Amino acid sequence: MMRMDVKGVRVPALGFGTWALRGRQCADAVRMALDVGYRHIDTARMYGNETEVGRAVRDSSVDREDVFITTKIWPDDLAYPDVKRCAEDSLRNLGSGYVDLLLVHWPSKAVPLRETLKAFSEIKAAGKARLIGVSNFNTALMREAVEECDTDIACNQVEYHPFLPQNRVLGLAREYGMMLTAYMPLAKGKVVRCR
Ligand SMILES: NC(=O)c1ccc[n+]([C@@H]2O[C@H](COP(=O)([O-])OP(=O)(O)OC[C@H]3O[C@@H](n4cnc5c(N)ncnc54)[C@H](OP(=O)(O)O)[C@@H]3O)[C@@H](O)[C@H]2O)c1
Repeated sequence: MMRMDVKGVRVPALGFGTWALRGRQCADAVRMALDVGYRHIDTARMYGNETEVGRAVRDSSVDREDVFITTKIWPDDLAYPDVKRCAEDSLRNLGSGYVDLLLVHWPSKAVPLRETLKAFSEIKAAGKARLIGVSNFNTALMREAVEECDTDIACNQVEYHPFLPQNRVLGLAREYGMMLTAYMPLAKGKVVRCR
């Protein structure tokens, strides 16, 4: 599996997305993904499947430290105390002392980004997230995040595929040494169908 270096952490380039997976189906799918070689699993609190993702990793033959796990905190929970509470809850769900990447799932209009990122920074400093980042941020918000956070913002996860090349977001991510994670990489199958 190809890996890249992001802010000093090795990240497997190809991730397994879990947003539509729940319960037993999720645990089985993640186990299978690990069996065939995926080492990067993408979940979120909103998906309601962190427990199954964590169980699948534990039940697999792959060591926890060889799997890169991303989770995300939903915009309703971006106030400082809520971020802290949610991060602890995610770690309990995942059955792990840390998550590899913790993301702001979507920007919030209600909570100042500085407040959210202060909590994210502290979670990273406590060793409970190896990297922190954002998702669904435009270039203005990316700039604000980098300026407001005293810790590196390692990632922006955005919709990215041939019908949405995101040149400006990608350019700025490169400038900041940030990883751009592509979600919906097949545009829900449209990419495969238009050969
Ligand atoms: N950060 C965010 O806000 C955010 C948002 C969305 C997704 N994500 C993450 O990104 C991951 C991937 O997103 P996604 O699953 O929406 O992306 P996707 O890979 O673009 O879409 C997957 C869907 O494409 C269809 N498909 C796949 N292969 C196909 C093929 N060979 N022929 C025809 N259709 C095919 C399937 O649809 P059918 O099931 O209908 O057959 C499949 O469910 C998610 O699981 C999640 O982890 C993050």
